[in-house]
Amino acid sequence: MKNTVLLSSPLQGFTDFRFRNAFHQYFGGIDTFYSPYIRLNGKMVVKPAYERDLLPKNNVGLEVIPQIMTNDADEFLFVAKYVQDLGYNELNWNLGCPYPMVTNRGMGAGLIQDAERIDDILNRVHNESDIIVSMKMRMGHENSEEIWKTLPVLEKYPIKNIAIHARIGKQLYKGGVDLDAFQECLNRTNQKIYYNGDITTVKRYREMVERFPTIDHWMIGRGIIADPFLAQMIKEDTEEYPEDRMEIFRKLHDTLFAEFEQHLSGEKHLLMKMLSYWEYFSQSLEDGRKVLKKVKKAKSVSAYDRVMDDVFDY
Ligand SMILES: Cc1cc2nc3c(=O)[nH]c(=O)nc-3n(C[C@H](O)[C@H](O)[C@H](O)COP(=O)(O)O)c2cc1C
Repeated sequence: MKNTVLLSSPLQGFTDFRFRNAFHQYFGGIDTFYSPYIRLNGKMVVKPAYERDLLPKNNVGLEVIPQIMTNDADEFLFVAKYVQDLGYNELNWNLGCPYPMVTNRGMGAGLIQDAERIDDILNRVHNESDIIVSMKMRMGHENSEEIWKTLPVLEKYPIKNIAIHARIGKQLYKGGVDLDAFQECLNRTNQKIYYNGDITTVKRYREMVERFPTIDHWMIGRGIIADPFLAQMIKEDTEEYPEDRMEIFRKLHDTLFAEFEQHLSGEKHLLMKMLSYWEYFSQSLEDGRKVLKKVKKAKSVSAYDRVMDDVFDY
């Protein structure tokens, strides 16, 4: 569809550079990938795994925006400088992570209600850095009105965009998205808003476009992993899969498998990693439940290979 920008929403453990490259090689439709968040643990050091994920040589030909999760201006400024040195000009701020270990420390969705702290951090970041700031947030942690106090604060800054995942933190990933509350956010801000949450089919995407005609940036997380064809089908405005669907899918699978086989230590880790992808992949396949069961049962690479031959019908 024309004028539609599709963004790959980050999933820690799934959408790292290996997935992004494999996806980009065989599928289309995604304009920009957000990398999973960088988090510093008290020290001003970026872990090697985060660094690998962002190195330009690992992201050739991809449009990538790095992300940070923090509630500290010094950390923000440190990571801003770090990603700028790597050649990025934008840093996305995560105020959406819902897990208690994060929210109890006033980070992720736990920070949304602290408008004053957000103000202080944005103030320092905009005074002390020329990085472009964008945000990704839920509507609150305890309730969807928390964001009402935060939006006027965000209004003061030249934030590039705010992607809103239309849930609250307390929900984790359960329950539905709250589209009325999302509409209320649109009513309460002049910032550029992107929509995020539960776009899993072309039909669902079309419904959302109808409901929110002013939105032209759509962020898709789990839907892209569950169905890697989704973004290109949205762009082509079709619900038809290509004829060689399973062949293309296999290429993605095999590329990921080969990458992880090379970089993970031991069969067990490799099979666990592939199973985590199959939890999503299986959702877009007709006999997905059966496939997932078989993948779970495969306790060796040779057993797993046999399941794959079966799935991909070779
Ligand atoms: C396993 C997992 C890891 C995630 N990691 C991140 C992350 O690093 N940064 C982030 O902003 N959101 C993260 N998210 C949230 C997703 O990006 C997205 O906002 C959420 O799943 C809703 O969108 P969706 O329904 O299209 O998946 C994660 C979600 C899941 C399920």
